[in-house]
Amino acid sequence: MRPSRRDWLRTGMHALAAPIIMTSNASSYSIDEIEERLALGSGIEGVTKQDLPTPSLLLDLDGLEANLRRMAEHAKAASLDLRPHAKTHKCSEVARRQVSLGALGVCVATIREAEAIAAAGIGGLLLTSEAVGPNKIHRVVRLAAQQPDTMVVIDNPDNAAELDAAAAAAKLQLHALVDIDPLGRRTGIPPGPAAVQLAETIDRLSNLRLRGVHGYCGASSHVKGFRARKEHSERYMEPVLESFAAMRRKGLPAEIMSGASTGTYNIDSALDGMTELQVGSYAVMDVDYRIIGGKGGEVYDDFHNALHVLATVISKNHDDIATVDAGLKAFATDRDFGPEVARPAGLTYAFRGDEHGALTLADAEQEIVLGDKVELVVPHCDPNVNLYDRMYCVRGDAVQAVWKVDARGHI
Ligand SMILES: Cc1ncc(COP(=O)(O)O)c(C=O)c1O
Repeated sequence: MRPSRRDWLRTGMHALAAPIIMTSNASSYSIDEIEERLALGSGIEGVTKQDLPTPSLLLDLDGLEANLRRMAEHAKAASLDLRPHAKTHKCSEVARRQVSLGALGVCVATIREAEAIAAAGIGGLLLTSEAVGPNKIHRVVRLAAQQPDTMVVIDNPDNAAELDAAAAAAKLQLHALVDIDPLGRRTGIPPGPAAVQLAETIDRLSNLRLRGVHGYCGASSHVKGFRARKEHSERYMEPVLESFAAMRRKGLPAEIMSGASTGTYNIDSALDGMTELQVGSYAVMDVDYRIIGGKGGEVYDDFHNALHVLATVISKNHDDIATVDAGLKAFATDRDFGPEVARPAGLTYAFRGDEHGALTLADAEQEIVLGDKVELVVPHCDPNVNLYDRMYCVRGDAVQAVWKVDARGHI
């Protein structure tokens, strides 16, 4: 007999594992029930993908672990430090695993991410967006008081002076990198004499501690074809690295040269002067990266797709089409392509509105029935993770943990 919800929440799972597995097709625990069970310390052993509410975000632990290991081994072999970007996963559980495999810490894109990751006890934070204005400056200095190795990036002398004054008021040294813009015209000072001059300015300020250069060439990361991507990255990173070298020639304390993306990790690692990689998407991957092409072929498959949206077939009234409960609200829609169906094979997906998606069957004989579960590779991982409060961590069919996306949110 299937246990009552109350029994399931309160009792140890060992006794209940078998019934739940046996009846898992009919089960439908809510998010609150699963979280209540975790809060009671009862674990979620016995829960399978079939039991999960949909749409929900799945994190495949085998894929994640293989990805984290592969990048850690790459960095080690290239004698580079690794400070992966947590903007991708926004999850301190993932960050903790990256650090346990040798990362110095993690990069963060927002103060909110920095605060959440620091609250989980993880240091070595590099905030890769400028901290401008009293709110951000106050919070970054407060963070540095808790985690003294926190680093900021700076692309403007006035901002440097303000950060210095705030650090002086808090009686601390704030670690800083000059943010140099390879191409993106997003943040960063152009490479060359202006960048070196800014480094000198930072170095003169008594409560800022110059550590080196931040140079992230986002424009290179998704250039299609490995050779074209290599040429692109080498061309635009060269002036950044030259500025870094000029800082060193002047005797400035420039020990860190941080940059690279998942698309260029095996390109930028060979650039003269790089000291650390700030790769992000490799941890979970997405359609956006699969299609750029890898060193060995048309599909970029150095890393596994570890992030899927789980959906349920809720309507099937046509031979060739089935409707699932995951639509525009379940995916980031910033790309001009949608998700790809990972499982079951032979299906393609198209958006059918806010809450719905249409699966087209390659073969009308393919059996798809109401209640079937479908796993979809997300189009773009970073903004997709940001839509969900939690990730269900799975191995095969079994749900092994639920991790909060604890660094999500906009402030
Ligand atoms: C500043 C910065 N560094 C590193 C990354 C990581 O790039 P990727 O996720 O392509 O590895 C990003 C991603 O947007 C970024 O904005």
